[in-house]
Amino acid sequence: MRYLRAVTLLAVSVCILSAAAAEALDTYLAGDAATGIAGSRHNLGGLSMHISSQATTEICVFCHTPHHTNTTNNMKPMWNRSALSITSFTAYGTTASFSTISNTDIGSVSLACLSCHDGVTTFDNIVNAPGRGGVTQGGSDRGYEFLLTGILVSDFMTASRLVVGVDLSNDHPVSVLYLAGTAASLRPTNTTISQIDITAGLNVTAISFDNGNMRKNLWAIKGFISDQATIADLLRNGRVECSSCHDPHFNNKSWQEVDSTYTTVAAYQEVESNGLFLRRVGGNTGSGLCRTCHNK
Ligand code: HEC
Ligand code: HEC
Ligand code: HEC
Ligand code: HEC
Repeated sequence: MRYLRAVTLLAVSVCILSAAAAEALDTYLAGDAATGIAGSRHNLGGLSMHISSQATTEICVFCHTPHHTNTTNNMKPMWNRSALSITSFTAYGTTASFSTISNTDIGSVSLACLSCHDGVTTFDNIVNAPGRGGVTQGGSDRGYEFLLTGILVSDFMTASRLVVGVDLSNDHPVSVLYLAGTAASLRPTNTTISQIDITAGLNVTAISFDNGNMRKNLWAIKGFISDQATIADLLRNGRVECSSCHDPHFNNKSWQEVDSTYTTVAAYQEVESNGLFLRRVGGNTGSGLCRTCHNK
């Protein structure tokens, strides 16, 4: 009897384990919310599982505030972070198709990401502090301490893989105009993203690979997983910005390659992937993210 029970228990725990493993490879349905920021690295509040400040449990405040928002350089939406000078960044320059991006072109949404990923600005450099905290136009460092698993860590970006830096000339062009049909095999902006067949020309297993995510080509658009969105929905003022490819709120649990890489690394902060906050369900499997815009 005891043996039987042990076997049953074992069977149950195996089930739980395999359910957990399947969870790491989530698939999403059209209409699902692109959610999960609370459990992600973009939660810097005191209840976060990652780098966090004990000064507040709020999550959104590190990026947004309901009042007194920072509008310098047209920083939106409801932006609570320090004002960044456009000209302190080096833009990509001229592409092979002779599109030129100058420093003054750098768009507000990319500046938004860079206000932490520049490797210089502190995470607590905000305009409107939580609750009855003060308002400092342009933002100021609040002197918060940040912890990771109870250990004091830096209050600015230090992990080299995450520091995009102030030199954007070695990154995929941002703030570049999307010249459909003219440059870099770019598809028409009215192309419905889910209609693009990323599996064409691949081995037949591509259709079922990665829970079928490759075939569906679903992206997180305006906070929801969409099968209706077009490429125009990825652009900001007709340009590619950081948020064309990333949704900073979407804890994307669907990228097999990146998930399996993370779990082999022991350090706590690497245990759980956020799928690099990529907008595409399935991440960049089969370079599906790249091939959505580039018809290569
Ligand atoms: C790490 C920074 C960051 C945090 C934290 C953050 N946001 Fe955002 N949010 C952004 C950026 C950047 C954009 C613009 C994204 C774009 O262009 O698609 C944005 C856009 C939005 C939008 C409009 C577009 C959309 O995707 O829905 C809403 C609504 C929003 N955020 C709500 C929230 C709420 C609520 C929270 C807290 C639970 C939050 N955000 C936390 C960075 C952040
Ligand atoms: C308030 C500061 C802040 C802003 C603004 C911010 N990030 Fe982050 N981001 C972080 C922190 C902190 C981490 C985790 C750092 C660490 O683990 O060392 C992170 C991690 C990431 C990661 C890695 C996630 C993973 O799966 O490992 C990506 C990708 C990322 N951010 C992209 C962006 C993009 C794109 C934007 C703008 C849309 C943005 N971030 C805006 C603070 C920020
Ligand atoms: C054209 C699409 C695209 C644009 C635009 C883009 N990214 Fe990314 N980003 C990616 C992809 C794809 C990855 C995953 C790369 C990989 O597999 O190593 C990534 C990875 C990252 C990472 C994690 C790096 C790592 O190795 O862990 C950070 C941080 C990041 N991006 C921030 C940004 C910021 C900030 C911007 C704007 C300045 C930006 N990205 C613009 C596609 C893009
Ligand atoms: C949101 C649409 C979009 C996505 C997704 C995208 N790109 Fe691009 N890419 C562009 C645009 C727009 C340009 C600029 C073309 C021009 O004007 O020359 C570009 C340019 C390029 C260039 C040429 C740079 C030069 O100097 O000429 C390369 C290479 C490139 N992308 C590779 C990639 C790769 C690899 C990925 C996936 C990680 C990717 N792209 C994802 C839109 C996109």
